[in-house]
Amino acid sequence: MIVSSHPLFGKGIKRLLESRFGEGVNVVGMVASVEEAIAALMTLHPDLVVVDYDDGAVNREEFLARFVESEHRLRVVLLSLKEGGSNAIVYDRRTMAASQVEDWLKEWADQGSALSSIISMGKPIVQRSKFLQMKNNLIHGFGALVFVFIMTAIGLLVLRTDILLPEQASLQAVPIDNLFGLHFRLIAFLFALIVGTILYSVIFFRRKKGDITDAVHITGNTNLEIAWTVVPLITVLAFSFIGSDALAKTLKPDPKPLEVKVTGQQWAWRFEYPDQGIISNELVLPVNKQVVLRLQAVDVIHSFWVPEFRVKQDLVPGQVKILRITPSKVGSYQLMCAEICGQQHAYMVAPVKVETQDEFDNWINVQLNTIPTDPVARGQFWLDRYGCKACHSLDGTKLVGPSFLGLYGRQETFEDGSTAIADEAYIYESIREPGKKIVLGYPNAMPANVAQEMTDEQIQDIIEFIKTLK
Ligand code: CUA
Repeated sequence: MIVSSHPLFGKGIKRLLESRFGEGVNVVGMVASVEEAIAALMTLHPDLVVVDYDDGAVNREEFLARFVESEHRLRVVLLSLKEGGSNAIVYDRRTMAASQVEDWLKEWADQGSALSSIISMGKPIVQRSKFLQMKNNLIHGFGALVFVFIMTAIGLLVLRTDILLPEQASLQAVPIDNLFGLHFRLIAFLFALIVGTILYSVIFFRRKKGDITDAVHITGNTNLEIAWTVVPLITVLAFSFIGSDALAKTLKPDPKPLEVKVTGQQWAWRFEYPDQGIISNELVLPVNKQVVLRLQAVDVIHSFWVPEFRVKQDLVPGQVKILRITPSKVGSYQLMCAEICGQQHAYMVAPVKVETQDEFDNWINVQLNTIPTDPVARGQFWLDRYGCKACHSLDGTKLVGPSFLGLYGRQETFEDGSTAIADEAYIYESIREPGKKIVLGYPNAMPANVAQEMTDEQIQDIIEFIKTLK
């Protein structure tokens, strides 16, 4: 059946078919619109419908939607004769020379009335030979696979946890690194799958010189869509399982851990060992023994992070956060604050040392005997321990807060224009209530409760030390 509102089109096609195939072809109807075609189809049952591609009166989209993609599947050819000269264009807009069109028509005839190899939506019109096509697909499929394989191998060489991650120095780092490694491998494969396929297509399916035709129109592939839904779903579920397992392993408590209280403040770290009775500015840990860190922030959010231990925990004001680490390698590391916390955030670091149990016990003993007996020396000791020197220099250098050099007895001018002599009462008040008097030219930056753990005796020691800085 032929669908076109132009009588010449119908006549031409009819003549062409008859001249080629003679008795073998029977044009059962020539109709001018979709509606007529629908009515005719019910009675005529044609094997093949030829639709005039260039005919504006024939709504070919509607036609195709109704008969190619619906349950009334029909063999439909959209044919355009507009190119003029020797070319005819069939519905997927593949250009063929007139001689090819004849071959193509002949191919149908050869296959008898079943016309089995003819067009359904989405498949190329010219099915030169199914075998050749399959062979071609296999070759390209294999080629793309080789590309993806090579790129995955390169990715795996580059994405290695032992190269990209810092030294592994805690038991908790092991499950984390394993998870990282799995991700890296998956990423290498996915990257290769996408970029490798693109590269392969760019090389082997690029437009040939002089080719001005459009590509084949592809509408969908149910199997492929099911595959790319189900496979990622299973992968993500598997990773969520591995991820929770890794998390559980990093949180697992030991029955008798070492307790350390960690205090973060702008911009210093302080470590207290309650069972041993010492306060330190460096975190010293015995190897192969779990430490439970009780993390507290004085002012704003900070974050405890030693890259070699992998685990990380925010310090939130008003809460005590727990972090468990089992150092597995003797060595020196660095704790850094991993949460933007103000001006000196980048310098909020502290040394971390992992020692043997003997070295650790020795360190504890030394610490116990280092609290000086002289009040002045003790004052300096507390300044160190409480992190005061992050903001107050001892040599006159202007940091975030006023220098302690020459402070005692100095006349200070405040933001409101008032003045005061820096005596013992003033220094005491400035430590206990730092926001009360703000020295002109300095921000109100000192944490309000920075001295919550200081005793009055310790503050007195600090004042004694400041007195000596002239
Ligand atoms: Cu503390 Cu950043």
